[in-house]
Amino acid sequence: MKILSIAAEVFPLIKTGGLADVAGALPSALSGHGCDVTTMLPGYPVVLKAIEAAGAKVEVLPLDDVLGGTARLLAVKLSGMKLLVLDMPELYDRLGGPYTDTAGHDYGDNWRRFAALSKAGAMVAQGAIDGYLPDIVHVHDWQAALTPVYLAASNRPRPKTVLTIHNLAFQGNYPSGIFPQLGLPAASWSIEGVEYYGNVGFLKGGLHACDVVTTVSPTYAKEIVTPGGGMGLDGLLLGRGSRLVGIVNGIDTTVWDPEADPAIAAPYSPADMKSRLHNKRALEGEFGLRRENGPIFSVVSRLTWQKGLDLVAEICDELVERGVRLVVVGSGEAIIEGTFQAAHSRHPDRVGVRIGYDETLSHRVQAGADAILIPSRFEPCGLTQLYGLRYGCIPVVAKVGGLADTVVDANYAAVSAKAATGVIFTSPERDSLLAAVDRTLELYEDAQVWRTMQAAAMKADVSWEKSAALYAGIYRDLTKE
Ligand code: ADP
Ligand code: GLC
Repeated sequence: MKILSIAAEVFPLIKTGGLADVAGALPSALSGHGCDVTTMLPGYPVVLKAIEAAGAKVEVLPLDDVLGGTARLLAVKLSGMKLLVLDMPELYDRLGGPYTDTAGHDYGDNWRRFAALSKAGAMVAQGAIDGYLPDIVHVHDWQAALTPVYLAASNRPRPKTVLTIHNLAFQGNYPSGIFPQLGLPAASWSIEGVEYYGNVGFLKGGLHACDVVTTVSPTYAKEIVTPGGGMGLDGLLLGRGSRLVGIVNGIDTTVWDPEADPAIAAPYSPADMKSRLHNKRALEGEFGLRRENGPIFSVVSRLTWQKGLDLVAEICDELVERGVRLVVVGSGEAIIEGTFQAAHSRHPDRVGVRIGYDETLSHRVQAGADAILIPSRFEPCGLTQLYGLRYGCIPVVAKVGGLADTVVDANYAAVSAKAATGVIFTSPERDSLLAAVDRTLELYEDAQVWRTMQAAAMKADVSWEKSAALYAGIYRDLTKE
């Protein structure tokens, strides 16, 4: 089965969050299930540089004009993936990130940048490349969500489409004035098309047009069909009935492997947790933390309201009072960054803060910290709790979305059964978080209980195996329709 996967970011080429991890890891997991995945992404400068640096053989495939712009595709094998890189310098050759300029502002033409990605995807899906016709097109998030819309609007044969929602908070809504420039038929300006309360809704259009909607955990799939979690799209999503499926993310267990991780100070395994201590000592050194016996809690995240990290920033003094040291790696809302930095100034050797994005440091944090705090207000899946499990860095999480699906709370029964892998608290609020912190500290103080939890966490199946099989099943069923 040939699958064309389309995403705006793909690890290890370009990453701002979990979408990249998923788009980068799922293809190889699917290959064991009879799926031959080709991944399409924009030709950002870092991607073109990575291709050049690898000296990889590139096949240049001309494309007809895409939304009025000159385009070509670079077909290349890189990082174990078959890639189709959409080379459109006028859209993608920019300083800054994939979505924002160097000052952190969204590019004004993001709608065009990602409509072009979607359109080029649809062209490939309908035979724009000689000798390649996918059986299924699998698109990720709003940036690729117009592909099913273009395909549904065309009267030529098309493959079946799957759209995965990684985060409903990002919908790609733009003023109606862009509609004529999308190259869609007039009929697409409708409730069944991209029209969304008088605007153009990229995600909304895709959710209507695709054959199957998936999202990244079963619990999030339930949350998004309710007014509280649906962010305006709950009615549409509810209407898709059994065509909306929640499949929990896995992780790339070769990239995240405490036994063979080149980024960490010392490899370790459940059988050799003494070596894990070297990583804790190294982390203390790296963050200039006082060396002492208590636990180190951590945060590796976008610092945003979604992630509830304002709550952690506000309880830094309480953490320190309880003998906890904290390391924070992240960037995001200025107010949350500032609150963490102020806590660092008050407690320079107990609160370590790195504002920014640092992939290898995130590995060292998972390997050296005792626990990772994830008090998200909503969380489609979340990956850092999965990395935490794999590294024996106990996740302390809010009971939402994929966090609820992947962590086993250390309640009395689970601890007795040696099944507990983390701490879950019910509401992302300060008092509830503090109570979870206290519960975590009690568990930590009982060294045997803690070690048992770490062992259970590290043995939890966080691989892609089961979930890849579920995606492959969906693809297969669609090809039979
Ligand atoms: P989201 O995609 O909503 O940000 P996820 O938990 O799914 O949340 O994925 C976040 C990914 O980004 C993880 O791989 C995490 O390790 C990584 N990450 C987040 N912030 C940073 C940072 N400041 N430095 C390094 N990695 C980070
Ligand atoms: C989104 C979500 C996150 C999820 C990731 C990958 O960024 O916020 O919860 O893990 O996508 O699916």
